[in-house]
Amino acid sequence: MRITELFGIDLPIIQAPLAGVQGSTLAIAVCRAGGLGSLPCAMLAPEAIGQEVAAIAAATDRPYNLNFFCHTAPTPDPTREARWRAALAPYYAEFGIDPAGIAAGPGRLPFSDEIADLIEPCAPRIVSFHFGLPAPRLVGRVHAWGASILASATTVDEARWLEAHGADVIIAQGLEAGGHRGHFLERDLNGQMRTFELLPRVLAATRLPVIAAGGIATPAAVAAALQQGAAGVQVGTAYMLCPEATTSPLHRAALRAASGGDTRLTNLFTGRPARGIENRLMRELGPLSDLPPDFPLATAALGPLRAKAEALGRSDFSPLWAGESVAAISEESAAALTRRLAGGEQVAT
Ligand SMILES: Cc1cc2nc3c(=O)[nH]c(=O)nc-3n(C[C@H](O)[C@H](O)[C@H](O)COP(=O)(O)O)c2cc1C
Repeated sequence: MRITELFGIDLPIIQAPLAGVQGSTLAIAVCRAGGLGSLPCAMLAPEAIGQEVAAIAAATDRPYNLNFFCHTAPTPDPTREARWRAALAPYYAEFGIDPAGIAAGPGRLPFSDEIADLIEPCAPRIVSFHFGLPAPRLVGRVHAWGASILASATTVDEARWLEAHGADVIIAQGLEAGGHRGHFLERDLNGQMRTFELLPRVLAATRLPVIAAGGIATPAAVAAALQQGAAGVQVGTAYMLCPEATTSPLHRAALRAASGGDTRLTNLFTGRPARGIENRLMRELGPLSDLPPDFPLATAALGPLRAKAEALGRSDFSPLWAGESVAAISEESAAALTRRLAGGEQVAT
């Protein structure tokens, strides 16, 4: 069954949750255009989640997706933190930063009872998870208020696991995708496939509807995914140049200049592999390394370096998340993009 029927939307396009580069404005624009807008909640404090959800609910009565991470919160390890800061020491010296003043902290919190308490009164109809699923009790809570649960799989085994543990829809995330890999069963990335290799295998392995994600940025790619049997597509990178996104000027400049071959998987910025445009930190310490502490603890030590470099107009220490489709993206409104991707089949009023 297509997501248009499943969710009661006009177009089979999900605007991927894009933590750090969007808020409710982008989600609202996509919902109004007939697609499914998503709000990434992983980097928002509970109060901000409440405000953003209220903003969406006030602006549209169409369905929207709330997205959460569900990683296991790591135990801080002073030895690994010290090793990470030692690796960054030459950069601290270059920018005159005293690392003693940098507070450690997670920056991203997994889905929890506290968040469920907060959003339950709005009973959002669609909730998506990255990095597996939360505890069965929390999956039960989300289902109890009537929501459909979407979750990312990067392998066939993950798709089967998600089906067995309560997901209603699988997002098959291919290697081309921008941002964090959603893997959760296997740390080794060697078994991971590109979107159009993964999609038919996941479709064959599950009875659930499957959404294709990764590298999809043109009407032709959308049509190909639907033709292969996808219930819809989830598109991220293509939305990053929309005026409704909050992508920073430095990030936008990098996106405009990049080709797909400029992106790499790196774990340096957070501790988990994610695809972004190669920059100085990735070239000099990675892009993949065993130096960073566990996700998401790597982020804090980079904060002041990122801030100092960005103030100088440099993105040497910024995560420039982007997928391989980056060369195919352009500046256009989220509504125009959503409709164009869907082939202009239907135009919502
Ligand atoms: C900047 C950025 C931030 C992302 N943040 C999230 C997120 O918060 N939650 C999530 O489930 N996926 C996130 N993703 C991954 C997307 O859900 C999706 O898998 C990916 O964008 C699809 O590939 P594409 O970028 O090639 O379209 C992010 C991707 C990007 C580029």
